[in-house]
Amino acid sequence: MKQKTILVTGGAGYIGSHTCKALATAGYLPVAYDNLAHGSERAVQWGPLVRGELSDGDRLASVMADYRPAAVMHFAAYAYVGESVTDPGKYYRNNVMGSLTLLEAMREQAIGQLVFSSTCATYGNPLHQALNESHPQSPINPYGQSKLMVETMLGDFGRAHGLRSIALRYFNAAGADMDGTIGEDHEPETHLIPLALEAATDTGHPLTVFGADYSTPDGTCIRDYIHVQDLADAHVTALQALEAGASSTAYNLGTGKGVSVREVIDTIEQVTGKPVPHIFGQRRAGDPDRLVADAAKFQRAFGWRPVHSDLPTIIRSAWRWRNRGAG
Ligand code: UFG
Repeated sequence: MKQKTILVTGGAGYIGSHTCKALATAGYLPVAYDNLAHGSERAVQWGPLVRGELSDGDRLASVMADYRPAAVMHFAAYAYVGESVTDPGKYYRNNVMGSLTLLEAMREQAIGQLVFSSTCATYGNPLHQALNESHPQSPINPYGQSKLMVETMLGDFGRAHGLRSIALRYFNAAGADMDGTIGEDHEPETHLIPLALEAATDTGHPLTVFGADYSTPDGTCIRDYIHVQDLADAHVTALQALEAGASSTAYNLGTGKGVSVREVIDTIEQVTGKPVPHIFGQRRAGDPDRLVADAAKFQRAFGWRPVHSDLPTIIRSAWRWRNRGAG
């Protein structure tokens, strides 16, 4: 049987590239579509890379006409919460208008299935613990708004044109490929685990812990870290569900287990055997105390379980990636 092609926007990015690998492992040919603004060419190893902008509808349509993908996985987006507050236009233009351009190209080319990279940032401040998918979506920053707008468009395109889509709302993606081939390469880096690992490497940049006065047991923020390879596998599961005829819906992707910033630091010290120099700073605007998924819906639907998402495994994989080539 001919190998099915999947168009992966943002396929050179962190989660996109890990998903390309998972797609290839599952027998698909991933075609990465990326402008390389934040993605990296060397992360594209499992299929062709097409350089292009999400805003370029003609190019998207011609790539779809050339490759005839069975479905699209849509990761391409800007994802810096702080930047989205200071430069909202960039987020609405790229994340919202770019996604609209993609959906119109899909409609023109009669491609009717899409897996969308959404986020727990669409919920805004949690009203209760263990967020499930029916928690009100009330984002507190333009990044979350932009992702929610795309979810809304997916619903409307579904009703009007029969598009079937699964939106996956991630909690905190973390870690690196278990074989060490690819990993997290953000520039600038803003995420806790890579910055804490950097602090552990004598670079002279201590980690700043953003707030120790939260109403959590140790005063630092609690998040739900999910290994990027588990996320990638979940995307393949969602794709296969669409191929089997699933109707449109959204799922949380997390572990359901909350971990504090202090626990992340302690685990890094245990795993690496090195101290993580850190100072306590102000709270970062827009950080809720606790963001932990109720991830039961996806687990119930597909029997899926995260297998690499315990914190030491996440940290070991990220540490290995950070020290690649270091002998
Ligand atoms: N943190 C620090 N110091 C740092 C960086 C982070 O203390 O230098 C803390 C944050 O305050 C937060 C936790 O570590 O409590 C995790 O922060 P990250 O920046 O790693 O991740 P976020 O939870 O802010 O962001 C993630 C995704 C976003 C998404 C967001 C939803 O990366 O794309 O969850 O809230 F929008």
